Amino acid sequence: MEEGMKKFGDGDTSYLAAGKQTGIRRLVDRFYDIMATDRRFRIIREMHAQDDTVSRDKLALFLCGWLGGPHMYRQKYGQIIIPAVHAHLDIGDSERDQWLSCMREAIEAQPYKREFKDYLCEQLTFPASAIRARSGAEKKTGPSFPVGSTTNTQ
Ligand code: HEM
Repeated sequence: MEEGMKKFGDGDTSYLAAGKQTGIRRLVDRFYDIMATDRRFRIIREMHAQDDTVSRDKLALFLCGWLGGPHMYRQKYGQIIIPAVHAHLDIGDSERDQWLSCMREAIEAQPYKREFKDYLCEQLTFPASAIRARSGAEKKTGPSFPVGSTTNTQ
């Protein structure tokens, strides 16, 4: 990002870089389309309902707020704590890595600048790892992540 410009993460800079709600819906649709068709991601696809319409809507609206835009998930579905809504799922390293790889491919397909693609991929590793810590690890070793981190709630 050029000197003097706002950094990603400041205000709604990331939301705008992602193309607002339209661009974020395009990203999420690509993510779920790849997940549905590429066998490498079949384990995480099988975790979702056959009809993924609501999952697409929820992830897109969540990302709008998470990227600094309007809190549309909260307005439509209520408060959310990301690790908690995944706690019933068995998410270990491989499921987390599948999710991140699938998302990386979807991000690569978007008309975003290189630096925003890299930034977004990196930022998503934080909630993904928090989910993995809360989901898979909790079942084996007990709770290991404080629910309610500001980066994972809306
Ligand atoms: C770590 C790998 C991940 C896996 C395997 C995964 C899997 C899933 C699945 C299977 C659902 C549907 C749950 C259900 O219908 O009961 C879901 C919902 C959701 N996921 Fe993830 N997810 C992951 C990471 C993430 C990340 C990093 C985010 C946010 C940046 C996210 C945001 C959401 C949201 C907003 C919902 C909808 C929750 C609700 O309102 O019920 N997920 N996820």
